[in-house]
Formats: sequence, C-alpha cells, structure tokens
Amino acid sequence: MKVGVPTEIKTDEYRVAMTPAGVRDMTDTGHDVFVQAGAGEGSAIADADYQAQGAQIVPDADAVFESSDMIVKVKEPQPEEVARLRPHHTLFTYLHLAPDPELTRSLADSGATCIAYETVEDERGRLPLLAPMSEVAGKIATQAGAFMLEKPLGGRGILLGGVPGVGPATVIIIGGGVVGLNAAFIAVGMEAEVFVLDRNIERLRELDTALSGRVSTVFSSSLAIEELLPRADLVIGAVLVHGAKAPYVVTRERLKLMKRQAVLVDVSIDQGGCFETSRPTTHSDPTYEVDGITHYCVANMPGAVPITSTYALTNATLPYALELAQHGVADAIERNPGLRSGVNVAGGRITHPAVAQATGMDFTPVEQAA
Ligand SMILES: NC(=O)c1ccc[n+]([C@@H]2O[C@H](COP(=O)([O-])OP(=O)(O)OC[C@H]3O[C@@H](n4cnc5c(N)ncnc54)[C@H](O)[C@@H]3O)[C@@H](O)[C@H]2O)c1
Repeated sequence: MKVGVPTEIKTDEYRVAMTPAGVRDMTDTGHDVFVQAGAGEGSAIADADYQAQGAQIVPDADAVFESSDMIVKVKEPQPEEVARLRPHHTLFTYLHLAPDPELTRSLADSGATCIAYETVEDERGRLPLLAPMSEVAGKIATQAGAFMLEKPLGGRGILLGGVPGVGPATVIIIGGGVVGLNAAFIAVGMEAEVFVLDRNIERLRELDTALSGRVSTVFSSSLAIEELLPRADLVIGAVLVHGAKAPYVVTRERLKLMKRQAVLVDVSIDQGGCFETSRPTTHSDPTYEVDGITHYCVANMPGAVPITSTYALTNATLPYALELAQHGVADAIERNPGLRSGVNVAGGRITHPAVAQATGMDFTPVEQAA
C-alpha cells in the first residue's frame, strides 16, 4: 500500500504520525511511504532520518494525498485537508466527530474511509490509541493547572503542595480513567489534597490500589460534585463516554459554588467539553475567564510535548497502521474487531453508532456502508 504522512497543520501541533521506526517497518513489509518535507521537524525528526529508513520525501501536502492510499495523521483533518480526500483514501487519525457535525458531514461527503484512533478498542473494550495521549494529557493537566493557579497568571495564588505549617491546594478530578489516573499521580506527587470522582465503582477500586489510598475516591453524582466544588482550587474534567459528546458535569450555575480565581482544566474538550462554560483554546492562548473562574481548554494538550507524544502515539498506532496497510480495511476489521469500532465514516455513511447519534445522522453498519 502507499502510505502518506502529511505535516500537521492544526494550531500549535508539533506531533507527526509516523517515526523513522514506523517507516522502516512499513518499507520492510513492502509498502511505500511518502512523508511531507519537514513533517517531523516539530518532533526533532529530520527528513534525512525518514529517507534513511526508505521513505520518499515529497514537497507538499497535495503530493502526499495524491501519492497515497492511506493517510496517517495525528489531529482531525482541517478543511483544506478534507478537500484533498478522495473516495479511495483511508484516513487514520484522531477525529473526535461527536461534537462536530460539520466535519462529520464533510468527511462523509468526501467518500473516504475514516478511522478514528479514539474509538478503536482492544479485547477488553479499552481505548488503546487514546490511552497514550491521555497519559500525557493527564500529566499536563495537573502541571498546567498548578501553573495557572499562580497569581500573576490570574490564579488564586496557591501552591499545590503547600509547605510545612500551610495546607495544600485541593484538586478535584472528575473522571478517573487514563487521564484522571495520570492527573492524580502528578497531583499526589506535588502533595496536593486530591479527590477523584467516577461513576464506575470497579474503576474507583483500581484507583485506590494504584494510588495506594493517597487520594479520596468518590462515586460521581451531581450532589457529590456540588459538595466538593466549594473546596476546589483546581478541577480537572476527564470524563468520557466512548464516541459520544462529553456530558456536562459542571454547569455554569455551579461555578458560583467555587472560590474566585480557582482553575478548571477541561481535558474532555476534544469531545465537546464536560463543563458547560468550556470552549476550545490553543497553547498560544490557553485560558479565559468565566464568572471569575479560569478555564484552560486546550484541545491538543499532548501537542505541546511532541518529543514525548509523537513516540508514545506511534508506538500504539503503528501495529494498527501496519495491519491496515497489509490487509486493507475490510480484511483488517474482520481480523481485528477492535479496529472495526474505529471506523467512523465509510462510503458516505456514518458507521459508529455514538457518532451518528451525537451528530443527528443515520447509522449504517460498516459492512453495509462500502
Ligand atoms: N485535550 C486533550 O488534549 C486530550 C488528550 C487526551 C485525551 N483527551 C480526552 O480526555 C477524555 C478522557 O479520556 P480517558 O482516556 O481518560 O478516557 P477513559 O475512558 O479512560 O476514562 C473516562 C472515565 O470517565 C468516567 N465517566 C464517564 N461519565 C462520567 C461521569 N458522568 N462522571 C464521572 N466519571 C465519568 C468513566 O467511567 C471513565 O472511567 C476524553 O474525552 C479524551 O478524548 C483530551
């Protein structure tokens, strides 16, 4: 198969979808890889590093799309990238379609087969291609929140860990999945007082064990959140319902329960946000204020640490990309049912039930869509 790797063009995005190791595995198994000149620069990978492993460097994105059958990317396609998609293309990338009916419709109109990293499942129903970036985003969430709590940046002016004789800040993490666990690890390491809320009791058990009882686990309910918000200095939103738009766990009305200049970090912003007052921001301009509460809602948090994130992402995606290149979409999803749940759009149809429901479009099983 001919596999294309364009340069990411979303604002402040420095990751790239394939490393030289990936190119080597692809070319060793007989595939051709076309990498856009400079695609790896943001992650400190030179064109020559790709060439040394057998990639062909092409001058621009048009050439990548024209040369390739499968396009491997990191972030959801921007409008000029959607315009380059043709029905023969397979697009393999993060899509986050549930909160974005316009992108969903334009991908359907392109006729391409679009496979979303974030809805590919493993044999236990977990999300193996979301997990590595959730690990990164969870760690950044606490770091960024601690920073935004500093007074000159508009925060309350409290140190997360306190000092002897002065108490720590209180961190509330709503959603104790991969993001929540990693945010909690850092918050515990910084010696904050930490609460993690989730609606899955088994998950709360796992968190209690993983964090050696150093966080308070709480069954997530509207009342529990209302009772904790007045104590919070930093609230991290990390809920996910697979493929669906994020539910609001903090409404605008509830902001008034919080201390002024407290900080909200909405990691779930890529699925539409789990605070009613959230809207996507960028690394260049990450925060805004609503009712005296700082909101940090960067939709591509791992993009800020590409030297970590590019490798963490591609370690996870490469086996799937190889499977797709080797067998084509139809055979690959038959061999690996977890990959089937990644197919969000095919043959002009919406092939993921939660995406169809969230965008108000009709659902068609993937086997009937092609
Ligand atoms: N902004 C970014 O750059 C970035 C990066 C990575 C991941 N994310 C996003 O972070 C979110 C979380 O990802 P994850 O990998 O941790 O998902 P996950 O599936 O591992 O965890 C989500 C958790 O939320 C819990 N949950 C669902 N509804 C809840 C509710 N109403 N109250 C409390 N808990 C609830 C689930 O039980 C689950 O444990 C996703 O939306 C993901 O796309 C964003």
